[in-house]
This record gives sequence, C-alpha cells and structure tokens, in this order.
Amino acid sequence: MKIVYITGCLGFMGSHATRRALQRGYMVRGIDKITYAANIELLEEFQTYSNFTFERTDIKDLKRLYDCDYIINFAAESHVGNSIVNSDEFIESNVLGVKNLLDLIRYKPTNCNERPILFHISTDEVYGDISHGAHVETDILKPSNPYSAAKAAGDMLINAWARTYDIKYIILRPTNNYGPGQYPEKLIPLSVKNLNRGKKIRLHNQGHPTRNWLHADDTAAAVLAIIDSGNINEIYNVAGSFEQTNAETVRKIIKAYFGTDKNWKQYVEFNAFREGQDVRYALNDRKLKNLGWQPQKNFDEEIQEIVNYYKNKFTW
Ligand SMILES: NC(=O)c1ccc[n+]([C@@H]2O[C@H](COP(=O)([O-])OP(=O)(O)OC[C@H]3O[C@@H](n4cnc5c(N)ncnc54)[C@H](O)[C@@H]3O)[C@@H](O)[C@H]2O)c1
Repeated sequence: MKIVYITGCLGFMGSHATRRALQRGYMVRGIDKITYAANIELLEEFQTYSNFTFERTDIKDLKRLYDCDYIINFAAESHVGNSIVNSDEFIESNVLGVKNLLDLIRYKPTNCNERPILFHISTDEVYGDISHGAHVETDILKPSNPYSAAKAAGDMLINAWARTYDIKYIILRPTNNYGPGQYPEKLIPLSVKNLNRGKKIRLHNQGHPTRNWLHADDTAAAVLAIIDSGNINEIYNVAGSFEQTNAETVRKIIKAYFGTDKNWKQYVEFNAFREGQDVRYALNDRKLKNLGWQPQKNFDEEIQEIVNYYKNKFTW
C-alpha cells in the first residue's frame, strides 16, 4: 500500500489523480489552499473514501510532513492569462511552494522512514513553443510567459535540490489537459460558458495557435504508471498525440453545443490578443510510452459529453 500526498487535490487535474489513487487503495492526504480554481464539492466525494484525509493549507506554508512515499504536486496557479496581469501568486505557489516541499523532504528525519519522492507536475510550456517536431525531455527550457517561467523555475529548483541534497524526484510535463471539472477560464469550459450567456468566444491570434490535447484521466493514469515503474530521478513528457489549432477546437465545441458547425464563425471573435502567445506546443513522449502507458481517451469522441457537462454545470 502506498501513502501519498496529493496537492491541488480539489483542482482540475489533481482531482482526477486523487480519484484514481483512492480507487487503487492508496492512502491519500489531500492538500489544497482552496483558491478560486478549487471545487470544494469534491471534498464530499473524496470523504466517502476511508483512505482519504484532507488538510487545507498553502504548499508554501506546509510545516510538517507525515510519513509518505510520494508527494504528488498538482498545486499551482495555472492560468497564463492571470499571470500576465499579475505574477505574484505564480511566484509564491509555483516557485516558493515547490521550494517549501523540497525543504520539507530535505529536513525530514530519516531515522524511521525514507524521505518521500517529489512527483512534480510541470507543463509542456516550460520548453516554449516549437513550430515543427516535438520537444524531448532533455531540451532546454525557454518559457515565454510569467506562468511558464515560474513553472520552469520550479523544475530548476528540483534539479538543483536533487543534485545538492539528494532529493528523489519525478517531473511530469503534460500538454493541454481537457475533461470535466476545469475552471471556466480555460478554453473549453470558457467557450461553453460564453455560448450559454450568448457571448462570443474570444480567440487569441486568429485562433492559429496549435495545442496538443490530453484527457486529465490519461494524465492521472500516467502518474500511476510511473509510480508502478518504480523509476525515480526522471523527467517524462506526456502528450495526447492529438493536436489541432484553437480555432478547430472551438469549431468542434460549437458543433457539439448546437449540433451543427454551420456558421460557427458567427460565435467567435477572432481578433483577441495575448502577449507572448506561444504558436505551438508539441511533446515527444516515447519515454513514457515505453513504460506501457497509452492515452485511452480520444478528443473527438469525448468532446460531446464534455460540452454537455459544461452546458449543464454553472461555475462562477
Ligand atoms: N490544465 C492544463 O491544461 C495543464 C497542462 C499542463 C500542466 N498543468 C499543470 O498541472 C497542475 C494542475 O493544473 P490544473 O489545471 O489542475 O490547475 P487548477 O487551477 O485547476 O487547480 C489548481 C489547484 O491547486 C490549488 N492550489 C493553488 N495554489 C496552491 C497552493 N499554493 N497551495 C495549495 N493548493 C494550491 C487550487 O486551490 C486548485 O485546487 C499545475 O501545476 C499546472 O501547472 C496544467
């Protein structure tokens, strides 16, 4: 039986991983600061499991670590647009929060138990964009916006703490995630919310930017596959093997919403602009696939159900 901390357990991706870990019988201590992006309704679901406990705290302020095998760190400020407006909380959570977790592991007494492994969720954005081909794990990091710079800083701290203090780690770098339970600031839930409100969907840079889509449940499965492998001190990319322009994503959302994509452009404002916009992200995840992981969900098969979910679920 594994004992794991899952930070950001009430967020989008952390909740998918928490559900899978609980179903596997892991002892899970969920940690969440409960920011605007958290869904507190999830606590009711998770607390039906006798193997779940919860602590409301900021990872930056966590003072004590109970014995555990892994700290799986999903907690972060995750929205690029917010980071462009003000990056303070991004530095606090995505940099200083990671440093605190590293130091908690570093100072953990080892007389009774081994130090846990930090399993950190990073992002494809740390590499910056790529017009052709796909990034591999050894590529240099070249982030383009305050969010991705803070995430890259977190990855760098882990590399340094591993080398200097012998901290064991895994870094996982996923592409864009989709699925139920995402806060409506990200493309899919925000588009549906705008359609519900009769407002246009605002696409940055004419909708040309290209993203690779991965279901949050496939990301959760990737975390468990890496834990099962027993590998440590490795970086893994994880991609959905499914890329499309943001305009194409929005066309599919509109088709699922109305049952047709005829005249879909009338629901879209194409001239929104985002500073530092990355043109395309792409990851090579052969290293992870060599462990036997494969994505199980297909974007085109899932999108109808996901649009229905957001159509019927209002989130402030
Ligand atoms: N969403 C994506 O498409 C995507 C893609 C690649 C990587 N990631 C990374 O995956 C992780 C999870 O992303 P998400 O989309 O689920 O985020 P999210 O914004 O939906 O959820 C983040 C959760 O973490 C909590 N949190 C934030 N700061 C905290 C802190 N300092 N201490 C404790 N809890 C805190 C929030 O309350 C929330 O419940 C992030 O590290 C993000 O950088 C996300």
